[in-house]
Amino acid sequence: MIEEISRIEAEALRRVDEVAAIDDLRLLESDLVGKRSPLAEVKRAMGRLDEGQRAAVGRRLNAAQRAVSDRLSARRAELEAVVLLGRLEAERLDLTEVRSGRDAGHLHLVTQVIEELEDTFVGLGFTVAEGPEVEDDWHNFTALNFAEHHPARDMQDTFFVDLGRPREVLLRTHTSPVQVRVMEKRPPPIYSVMPGRVYRNEATDATHLAVFHQLECLVVDRGITFGHLAGTIDMFTKAFFGEGFSSRLRPSYFPFTEPSAEFDIQRPDGSWLELGGSGMVHPNVLANCGIDPEEWSGFAFGFGLDRLAATRHGVGDLRELMSTDVRILSQF
Ligand code: PHE
Repeated sequence: MIEEISRIEAEALRRVDEVAAIDDLRLLESDLVGKRSPLAEVKRAMGRLDEGQRAAVGRRLNAAQRAVSDRLSARRAELEAVVLLGRLEAERLDLTEVRSGRDAGHLHLVTQVIEELEDTFVGLGFTVAEGPEVEDDWHNFTALNFAEHHPARDMQDTFFVDLGRPREVLLRTHTSPVQVRVMEKRPPPIYSVMPGRVYRNEATDATHLAVFHQLECLVVDRGITFGHLAGTIDMFTKAFFGEGFSSRLRPSYFPFTEPSAEFDIQRPDGSWLELGGSGMVHPNVLANCGIDPEEWSGFAFGFGLDRLAATRHGVGDLRELMSTDVRILSQF
């Protein structure tokens, strides 16, 4: 009987080693260690043996059973590793791949504009500052001299965040709150530009986005005049767009500047592009930020970047700037 067990064991181990697929191993397992397996039959036959023989055969049988199940587990681990490797290989994503030429990807059009504008202004001696997109009423409105009931505070324009007191926390509607943050943080002279994303609760169409980008420019120093404002806008227009471009100012109104002006730039073909708002920093704004308006004066201007990026590349519909469609993105 002991010989019989050795034969069954050797045969079982050989079959385990031969299995190549995890599913086949599962089937084989019930053949080798299940209730109808040859080893189970031997166990049943042991009843016929006398006691002395039974102990020896029992030990041999246990050893054989352990050897077979150990080999089954080892083989299972091997085959599972193969399955896992196969799956990993099949699902592999090479995120490091960089191809040359146009397929290599590029910065978003608006990001390109932001980086170029930053370069232009840094070249003119400005620093770059940033502020949070989730703002409070003080920085977005109150410090900027918005009257309590100014229409821009209306639910129609502003996305309020459900946090703190009602209407206290909001998504900034322009980059002008960064002016306030810069002035609160450091004393003049200040020569800074502040690019960023802004939010307005408006219906989107070909020329309006609810989420868009602006660049703010702020100068505070002694003896700053409206002439400096006009000169800086013209200088940046030529530096950014080219020598053939010029700018003009039209009277306007903003609570945080006085006097205020909208500014347009003229293309070499004579056509005009409305770009943004500007003006001399209102004395109340300087005072709100702890700057003495008797000693210091300043100008600020701000304009949208999405329209600029779109115009530059002949994109007719601003919503396409937000597209994730490679057929659109790969054109630039
Ligand atoms: N913040 C204004 C807007 O979003 C633009 C502006 C900036 C006007 C700075 C004057 C000075 O329309």
